Amino acid sequence: MIQHSTTCLRWQNRINTKFSTRSDEYNSRIKALFTTLLVFTMPAWAANDIAQITLGKALFSKAAVPACAICHTLKDAGSVGTIGPALDELRPESARVLQALRNGIGQMPAYSGQLSDQEMAAIAAYVAKASGAAKP
Ligand code: HEC
Repeated sequence: MIQHSTTCLRWQNRINTKFSTRSDEYNSRIKALFTTLLVFTMPAWAANDIAQITLGKALFSKAAVPACAICHTLKDAGSVGTIGPALDELRPESARVLQALRNGIGQMPAYSGQLSDQEMAAIAAYVAKASGAAKP
């Protein structure tokens, strides 16, 4: 009986040791994996952000027809239009910009016929960021 429980204890110890080392190793592998994922994906997110803002700015200033710049003042874009509200003062969230782009508002035409969802999202992200509505 005594012998049996000693053997039992010994096995238990071995199992415990094995488990704890394995789970430590497992944990550190998981940590390493996540760190690697983060390191590789974060610059990709940042690059996407920059690409989207760059596209949004180009559309705002020139490429959208008619260009937003004709009617709106936005310091970051160097535009001085006065037909629509000054966006530096209005500081619209991207959802508000998107709403105006999709449906038009007052004198402002809708852009859903000529711009893709992605392009409208890019303009919205740009205006929100450039006007200071979106946190950098
Ligand atoms: C022909 C002139 C004109 C052009 C071009 C134009 N807008 Fe406007 N925009 C206006 C006017 C006018 C208003 C105010 C409408 C109202 O409140 O009756 C307005 C309103 C807005 C608003 C505020 C909407 C709200 O909810 O109050 C945003 C944001 C906006 N425009 C963004 C843009 C962007 C981005 C573009 C380019 C894709 C653009 N506008 C192009 C004239 C224009």
